[in-house]
Amino acid sequence: MIKVRELQKSYGDFLAVKKISFSAGEATVFGLLGPNGAGKSTAINCISGLLKPTAGTIEVGGFNVVTQAVKAKTSLGIVPQELAIYEDLSATDNLNYWGAAYGLSGTKLKDRVTYVLDRIGLTDRAKDQPKNYSGGMKRRLNFGCGLVHEPGILLLDEPTVGVDPQSRERLFELVEEEKAKGTCVLYTTHYMEEAEKLCDELAIMDHGEIIAAGTLQELRAEVGEKDIIQLSGTFDVRKVEREVARLNADALVLDTETVMISVRDGAGSLQSFLNAIVATGAVIRDTRLSEPNLESLFLKLTGKELRA
Ligand SMILES: Nc1ncnc2c1ncn2[C@@H]1O[C@H](COP(=O)(O)OP(=O)(O)O)[C@@H](O)[C@H]1O
Ligand SMILES: [Mg+2]
Repeated sequence: MIKVRELQKSYGDFLAVKKISFSAGEATVFGLLGPNGAGKSTAINCISGLLKPTAGTIEVGGFNVVTQAVKAKTSLGIVPQELAIYEDLSATDNLNYWGAAYGLSGTKLKDRVTYVLDRIGLTDRAKDQPKNYSGGMKRRLNFGCGLVHEPGILLLDEPTVGVDPQSRERLFELVEEEKAKGTCVLYTTHYMEEAEKLCDELAIMDHGEIIAAGTLQELRAEVGEKDIIQLSGTFDVRKVEREVARLNADALVLDTETVMISVRDGAGSLQSFLNAIVATGAVIRDTRLSEPNLESLFLKLTGKELRA
C-alpha cells in the first residue's frame, strides 16, 4: 500500500511536484502518466526515499518513508529510470548483489536468483556481463534487480523506455505476474497505450500536478461517450467554431493548429465536418478518428498532445 498526501518537492526555487495525493493498494497497477518533465520521477524518487519531500507525507506498507525509512524500505522494490546495474558484473552477480543488499542469503538467495533469471529471460546469458547486452536485456536485468527480494511494493519508473518490442512484452508479463501475486505496483510512463493496457488506476500528471485521476473507465468517461475527431493544420478559430456549432458538435480543443471535436457518430459525420471546415479556408494536415481514450483526455485537459 502506498499513500501519498500533499507531496511537494522543489529543486531550489522550482516546484517540480505540487501537492499531489493518491493511494495505491495491493494487487493493483497504479499508473503515473504524463509527458517528460511532468514530475513522475521526482514523485517516485520521493516515494522510494531517494529524495526528501519538501512537504507532505508518504507511507509505504504502513511506514512513513522519512521518519521510518528503514522499515519502509524493506517492503520496497525499486526499478529506477536510469539503469542501476553493474556493467562489469554478470547478471547472476548483479542479482546476488541486490538480493544480499535486501537481506537475502544462502539457499533462499540462490533460489530467488535462479527464479528471477528465468522470469526475465536471461538464464542462458546469466554468466555474461551486461556491457555485452542489448538495451532490452539490460532493462530486464534492471527490472529483476528490483524484484529479487520479493517486495510487496514495486516502483517502476519508465521501465520500457528504449527497449525492443519483445523485451517490452516480457516486462508487461512480469508486471501482470507481480500484480497477480498481490504486489502493489506503481508504474510511471509517458506512453498512454501502456497506461491503458496495464494500469487499473491512474493519475495523470502535467507540470507537477495531478490533472485527472481514477480508474481507466472513470477517466475515459471524463472525455464523454462520444467519438473524437481530431484535426491538425491551420485554422481560423472563429470560423471553425461557427461550423462546429452549426453541426451540433462540441469543440473540446480549438486553436489555430488543433481542432478536437466530440460527436455522436464520428465515422458517419467525419465527411461533413471535413467539408465544412475546409470551406472555412482551413488547411488540414492530419485527421484522426478515435473513441475516448487517455490521449484525448490529456488533449482535452491541457490543449496539447501527450507525446509533444
Ligand atoms: N535534480 C534536479 N534539479 C533541478 N530540476 C530538476 C531535477 N530533476 C528534475 N528536475 C526538473 O523537475 C521537473 C520534473 O522532472 P522529472 O521528475 O524528472 O519528470 P518526469 O519524470 O515526469 O519526466 C522537470 O522540469 C525537470 O527538469
Ligand atoms: Mg522520469
